[in-house]
Amino acid sequence: MDNILITGGAGFIGSTLANYLSKENKIVVVDDLSMGKQENLISSNNIKFVKGDVADKMLMEQLLSEYSFAYIFHLAAVASVADSVERPVATHRVNFESVLTLLELIRQHQPNLKRLVFSSSAAVYGDELTLPKQEESVIRPLTPYAVDKFAAEQYALDYYHLYDIPTSAVRFFNVFGPNQNPNSPYSGVISILMDRYKKQLAGEPAVFTLFGDGSQSRDFVYIEDVIQALMLVATKEEALGKQFNVGTGNSTTLLELIQAIDKILNVKLELKFEEERSGDIHDSLADISKIKTLGYQPKFDILDGMKCYIESEFTD
Ligand code: NAD
Ligand code: UD1
Repeated sequence: MDNILITGGAGFIGSTLANYLSKENKIVVVDDLSMGKQENLISSNNIKFVKGDVADKMLMEQLLSEYSFAYIFHLAAVASVADSVERPVATHRVNFESVLTLLELIRQHQPNLKRLVFSSSAAVYGDELTLPKQEESVIRPLTPYAVDKFAAEQYALDYYHLYDIPTSAVRFFNVFGPNQNPNSPYSGVISILMDRYKKQLAGEPAVFTLFGDGSQSRDFVYIEDVIQALMLVATKEEALGKQFNVGTGNSTTLLELIQAIDKILNVKLELKFEEERSGDIHDSLADISKIKTLGYQPKFDILDGMKCYIESEFTD
């Protein structure tokens, strides 16, 4: 059994990963529960939950000197682009400073680490128009969130080249699935949509606010494919010191998505249109050729993923 640290492990992607890996490993989760929930984690003797701030150097030093980790997944972050535009200083502390602190602590205390996987974002590409985005495409970060993700990702990869710390980075596109918290205005759009559909089906008032005209598009990738990608990037030798797009290679506009869910659930969601959010990217689409060389093959298109997600939400 390996020891594995998952920061942000009570959040959407982190908890799914922790639950999956806990079958055969000892997992330590650090999360301040600002967005995550402890209930996202299954009850297991193999999961130790630590409530705390990942930017707290003392706490992190204590953990990294107490355990020898085989893998570290650094997923803790303020995940909302719009929130980073509202609170650039506070989000910088988590989204950038915690990464540099962690890298230094690994250098001092983790000689047996096999891999640190850093969760970067498609947001680093910004609004340059060429699509799909390859890892070597123009980088034009437009928001504090995107600047921090790019800087932190580059630090993580440079620590491999400079100090031989085994690192890799993933640039997630728009991930969706169960356990994504819908309760903030800054939550991922599909979790908010799901919340409104559930309310509508329960006969409660439900309006979805669409920022812009709904023609913006995203490469929505289902959580199970993201777990597949994380496993490959963490374990393949060829992934050392490199970053990989994680998406599907297909994009969907928000209006197309809403029409598709309306059809699956046989309802018509009420929409309210508001002005586009500042810093919002209009279109995003991944070229996934690089991660395919590691053996990645997405199994879910947006419709398959939505069907699984809807099924899990309505059978709870
Ligand atoms: P999430 O908000 O569900 O998970 C992030 C977790 O980090 C939350 O549980 C939150 O409570 C925790 N956290 C925040 N600040 C913390 C702090 N100071 N100390 C400890 N814990 C803290 O988001 P997610 O969708 O699971 O995203 C996971 C990672 O992937 C993030 O780094 C995010 O930026 C990145 N990412 C996500 C997406 C996506 O579409 N979901 C896309 C690109 C990148
Ligand atoms: C998302 C992720 C971010 C990640 C990026 C990578 C979250 C919260 N954000 O950002 O971590 O780095 O993908 O591609 O997981 N919208 C509405 N109404 C709403 C909410 C959103 O119209 O109530 C719109 C937004 O304005 C945007 C689109 O939906 O145009 C997607 O928004 P969001 O889910 O926040 O994703 P990104 O900003 O792409």
